[in-house]
Amino acid sequence: MTGWFSKLVVGMTIRMPKWFVGWVSRRYVAGNNIEDAIKVMKRLSKENACFTVDVLGEEITSMDEAQYFYDEYAKLIDQIIEHELDSNLSIKPTAFGLLIDRDKGFEKIRSLVQMASQHDMFVRLDMEDHRVTQATIDVVVDLHNEGLTNVGTVYQGRLFRTLDDIDYLEQKLGSAADYRICKGIYLEPEDIAHIGYDEIVSATNASIDKMLAAGAYCAVASHDKPVINHALSALESYGMGPNIADPRENAGKPRTGKGPGYEFQMLLGVRGPLRRKLAAKGHRTRVYIPYGEKWYEYSIRRLQENPTVGAQVAKAFLMPWTNRP
Ligand code: FDA
Repeated sequence: MTGWFSKLVVGMTIRMPKWFVGWVSRRYVAGNNIEDAIKVMKRLSKENACFTVDVLGEEITSMDEAQYFYDEYAKLIDQIIEHELDSNLSIKPTAFGLLIDRDKGFEKIRSLVQMASQHDMFVRLDMEDHRVTQATIDVVVDLHNEGLTNVGTVYQGRLFRTLDDIDYLEQKLGSAADYRICKGIYLEPEDIAHIGYDEIVSATNASIDKMLAAGAYCAVASHDKPVINHALSALESYGMGPNIADPRENAGKPRTGKGPGYEFQMLLGVRGPLRRKLAAKGHRTRVYIPYGEKWYEYSIRRLQENPTVGAQVAKAFLMPWTNRP
């Protein structure tokens, strides 16, 4: 879809009443509270999916707000265990105050990762915009240095720096590096990021190749066939696949709840048939489950940040056959 159409959709959507945005978001957001998220996970467990859960909300303005996220994630850990769900956590470092008070933010993230580690649960630090790229990577390295290895982050294929960042984590963490690789949702300036679709796909695919070569765990987070097909052939070239122990000599140790060196990840409500097809072939598939009271702010901000999301949502509604849940 062209840029002007995307902008038009965003312009229209953010002027719509909240109930309308809520109606559109229903498919992409599990609901307002933990119970809603648990219900969705139980349903999707029947499709052989596993999960990563995100409490909606992002950059905060005071450290008091960080406590809300901390408490909610702590409850979430208990609920995931109580309901015996196969789930990780996804957290946004700025929601814990990384940009307000680095040390206090770090302490809160550390405490949560510690809590999760007692249940062998993995915590993914979502990657936000370029202001926090290095700070987020540093948090992961510092936690690993303290012996907390149940944590990893996300790299964005569109950023020029990503290939160097893969080298950096290879040096710092060796085969304990565990990535989610995605294209990157934030529209970054041209001097630091690829802009065109083809360049972003090529750069994302090059990152996948480099992560696999480094022996890292590689979670491919995309709904785009050129990325998924590239990942499938790269995996094949390493002899990696469903039900095969990771054959790479430099691979990290297998972890509870993870695939054999790789997995596929998709967002709730997006391209269900493709996810189910991958799952039916035995690939580990993880669904990103966002929930929370801040669903409205989250939806509007995503639309403003990257208008192509608006176009994809519109396409999904106008041409539902292109994106069945
Ligand atoms: P692309 O945008 O080309 O989409 C391919 C096709 O998928 C579209 O044509 C459409 O049919 C469908 N589609 C994709 N998104 C859709 C939507 N919202 N609604 C309807 N249809 C849609 N980014 C980031 O910067 N930091 C992060 O931490 C994460 N984390 C993350 C986790 C997971 C599990 C996923 C899947 C994605 C992310 N992302 C992210 C977002 C990611 O960077 C990227 O913006 C989106 O995944 C869209 O890129 P695709 O590779 O899917 O391709």
